[in-house]
Amino acid sequence: MKRTMQQHNVFMLPSSAKRKIKYVLLALVLLFAAKLFGLTTLFFEKDFHKNFRYPYDGPLEEFIDQLKNDEKPMVKPINFYPYPYIYNQTKKCVGNDEVRLVYLVKSAPEHFNRRIAIRESWGFEKRFSDVEIRRVFLLGYQNKNIQSLLDEEQKKFGDLLQANFTDSYFNNTIKTMIGLKWAYNNCKKAKYFMLTDDDYYVSTKNVLRYLRNPANYPAYLELNKVKRQIDMELPDDVKLYTGFVFNSKPHRHVFSKWFVNLNEYPYDRWPPYVTAGAVLFSRSAMIDMYLASFYTHHFRFDDIYLGLLALKTHIEPFHSDEFHYYKKSYSKDDYRFTVASHGFLPGEMLQAWNEQKSLGNA
Ligand SMILES: *[C@@H]1O[C@H](CO)[C@@H](O)[C@H](O)[C@H]1NC(C)=O
Ligand SMILES: *[C@@H]1O[C@H](CO)[C@@H](O)[C@H](O)[C@H]1NC(C)=O
Ligand SMILES: *[C@@H]1O[C@H](CO)[C@@H](O)[C@H](O)[C@H]1NC(C)=O
Repeated sequence: MKRTMQQHNVFMLPSSAKRKIKYVLLALVLLFAAKLFGLTTLFFEKDFHKNFRYPYDGPLEEFIDQLKNDEKPMVKPINFYPYPYIYNQTKKCVGNDEVRLVYLVKSAPEHFNRRIAIRESWGFEKRFSDVEIRRVFLLGYQNKNIQSLLDEEQKKFGDLLQANFTDSYFNNTIKTMIGLKWAYNNCKKAKYFMLTDDDYYVSTKNVLRYLRNPANYPAYLELNKVKRQIDMELPDDVKLYTGFVFNSKPHRHVFSKWFVNLNEYPYDRWPPYVTAGAVLFSRSAMIDMYLASFYTHHFRFDDIYLGLLALKTHIEPFHSDEFHYYKKSYSKDDYRFTVASHGFLPGEMLQAWNEQKSLGNA
């Protein structure tokens, strides 16, 4: 009898046993699906608003001050971006203490055309006779063939800031931090820094207008026309970290490009962060955030990492509706006050930018 039972396959079992197996299978399938879509993970997430900790676990202010003064902090740094430069751009800002705006453009090595378009438009260093602007393109290393083209490009334009790390999407934090490291070591006296992707439309004119009064942009422009006010200038020590601010949650379903497991990040919310396609920093914020990176464990999404640095240095990200992390549909009038907008190919970017320039808005 026992023997024959074992020989039976599942479909020959009594119906009550079949039903049980069905339920077990159904439960397994549901559990598997829940795991794929991150529901089991959600259950184990920690509350961001309670006891948030991210290494290094302790106050940083003193260490940052010591680093500023070239002193050795008591606790050794826990994080470095030690990649040697291929092109270091040590002369970009030398001899000029009046640099107002430095563009740090995250670019992919093969995006030659995007860089050309940016040089001819919003990245043009001599756009205004009375405003010192600088531009560098941030790059990693791709391969020999592309490198020989980059060598030519560097000779011609002298604006590639390249370090020897693998240029790939999940190395974006390295790219961003190489940019801040360079800014700190080579361009520390500049007043503002704008980190952007190479597929953005940017209006340099509106960046400068925005910086005169971020809290009241663009309304203050109209008021000034009526009252003939003189433009404000932000104080030198203002800690501005601004752009389109997100308050969002980690993606926990495994199909997401941005999937993160609990080991990598255990909390139910991200720190508030500026989407990293277009981020504007004042000098003081850039310095604090860069130095905080010595004591903030690496994270592979650069916008989240900057959010963590801001959290650690108590800098609140400042939101502006005129930075668009998506592509704001283009029209002559709707781009009047636009500071940045995402998702442009070089041709359409140039077209939009030239039109806005002729209207006095770029
Ligand atoms: C920067 O690059 C130049 C040219 O390759 C080199 O001579 C110089 O030593 C480098 N400077 C630093 C600080 O790495
Ligand atoms: C970059 O790093 C690799 C591996 O560490 C090394 O073999 C290569 O020579 C470096 N390239 C440059 C241009 O510095
Ligand atoms: C990032 O760059 C480092 C240094 O070149 C390399 O070892 C690593 O594999 C890269 N990571 C990714 C995800 O490409």
